[in-house]
Order: sequence, then structure tokens, then C-alpha cells
Amino acid sequence: MTFPAQRPRRLRRSEAIRSFVRETRVSVRGLVYPMFVCPGTNVRAEVSSMPGIFQRSGDQLVEECREVESLGVPAVILFGLPELKDERGSEATAAHGVVPRAIEAVRRAKLNLLVMTDVCLCEYTSHGHCGVVKDGVVLNDPTLEILAEEALAHARAGADIVAPSDMMDGRVGAIRSALDQHGFADVAILSYAAKGFYGPFREAAQSAPQFGDRRSYQMDPANAREALREVALDIEEGADMVMVKPALPYLDVVRQVRDRFDVPVAAYNVSGEYAMVKAAVRKGWLDEQRVVLEILTCIQRAGADIVLTYHAKDAARWLKAC
Ligand code: PBG
Repeated sequence: MTFPAQRPRRLRRSEAIRSFVRETRVSVRGLVYPMFVCPGTNVRAEVSSMPGIFQRSGDQLVEECREVESLGVPAVILFGLPELKDERGSEATAAHGVVPRAIEAVRRAKLNLLVMTDVCLCEYTSHGHCGVVKDGVVLNDPTLEILAEEALAHARAGADIVAPSDMMDGRVGAIRSALDQHGFADVAILSYAAKGFYGPFREAAQSAPQFGDRRSYQMDPANAREALREVALDIEEGADMVMVKPALPYLDVVRQVRDRFDVPVAAYNVSGEYAMVKAAVRKGWLDEQRVVLEILTCIQRAGADIVLTYHAKDAARWLKAC
């Protein structure tokens, strides 16, 4: 009888030893909680395909921010639902738009939270595209100025970090120079690099395109090398951090970005990923706590320093209890 010389099971015998040798320690410190802010007061409307996630008016949003802070989640990212949508997404740039007002309200509450904003036009345009449209085509350069104005409106209201998600060419550079020219050199840019898989978000942000689709500006999910090129360009243009979105189908891209670039890497555990987990949990097919903590661990193992996730509050509670 020969015995195996190598017995990896020795280090898996008990939770004490497993936790002692664990390589990835999932932490609440890198989580970001996405929030949808709408006009009005006292509004709290659940998104049907995202149980537990609500569109909230500013007052309700501040209340939830208090909870987010108390759970130790360090950051939120805000998405706005405007009063009125139009062809050019005018409300996106309004100084008193729904997002700037929400930022100011969170600031007034003096919470220890980083406030991040999504910079894009799709929530604000009547056609639901991320840029201005002419003859059925989404125009790149005319969109840049509007995005830069939108980022400025968020910075003026007190945003710490702006996150452009539109995928127009040159938008990071345009936003960086507008911020710098207006005295906001300290506002950081987290750029979305790859994008897909967002179905339920379009209900949450009421941003489904009214014609065509986003394939002329968002990435082809088949292309990892192109994603790396997008990341390189964004960093050259001045992005401080880069994001890969969605997270789970793109863990290979997260890993490659982590290995190749030295800026902080974020991954967005998107609405579609959240909806799949929630639906299976409702059916009793998955154990929510186990699966969510495993998902977050694996996204961090793939190399993400920052994870944007609708599970952030639950994860923070579970991690506290661990
Ligand atoms: C705005 C934007 C979207 C998401 C983040 N910013 C929608 C999209 O790309 O269509 C998706 C977030 C999610 O699905 O949770 N452009």
C-alpha cells in the first residue's frame, strides 16, 4: 500500500484551517450599491424584475443611503430617471436635474459614502439610445459635449466619481478636460470598458431603446481583445479606474485587464445576473447567501478590486455575521 505524499485535503479539513489559507477574502470595502433616483417625494417603487431594488425619490434615497452607510458599504452609484425625456436627453445636463439634487441631498446628510454617478444619455433620451440620433444613427462627437456637461453637473453637485457608460469614442478625454477646465481636477473617472447583459436594468431605468439596438456602440461580447483596447484607450484618455460589465460572463476579461493594467479594476455584477439569482432563489432552487457570497468571491478572485452589485446590502449583513 502506498500513500499519497501530497494531500491537499489536509488544508480543507475544518473551517478554521480553510479560512486560514483562504486566498481571496471577500470584503465589503470594495462594494458599490447601485441606486435609481426618480422625481417626486415619498416614492418607492419596486422594479418587478429586480426584487428588493426600488426606484426612489431623493428623500427615500437618502434614507436608504443611511442604511448603506451603516452596513459599511463604502459607495453608491446613482442612476437618474428624469421628469421628461427628449431627443437630446436635456435633463441629463440640468443643474437641478434628478441626479444633482439627489447628490446634494446625500451630501447634506453628511454620510460617510463615496457618491458615484452613471454618466450616460439612455435614461434621458426619448429614443433610449446613449447618444444623440440623426437619421437613425447614434452620433459620436455631438454626444461628447453633452456627456461632458452631464459629468460637470454631477461634479458641481458634489459627486466624487463619475462613471461614463455610453461607450462613445473619446468620452473619457472629453469628460476629463471639461472637469479640469472647470476646477474639478479631483473628481475621478471610472470608465465602463465592456458592456452587455442588462435586460432588467432597462425596466429599472426606463431606458430600453425605442428602435434598433446598441450594437453600433456597445461591445461585441465575443471580443476580449477589443475590450482590452477599449481599456487602454480609456486609461490614455485619463480614466482613473476601469470597469468590466457584466461580471460573471466576463471573468476572463476581468482577469486580463487586472494582469495587463495597473489601475483599480471594477466589475459590475449587473441587473441580469441579479435577476437570475433572485428568480432561482424564489423558486427554492438556490441558497441565496451561499450563492451570492460565492459569486462575489469569484469576481474578486478574477481580479476585481471593486464590485458594483445590487446584493451589496445583503452581502454586507452576511459578511458581518461571518
Ligand atoms: C447606462 C447603463 C446601463 C447599465 C449601467 N449603465 C444600461 C445599458 O448599458 O444598457 C447596466 C447596469 C445593469 O444592468 O445593472 N448606459
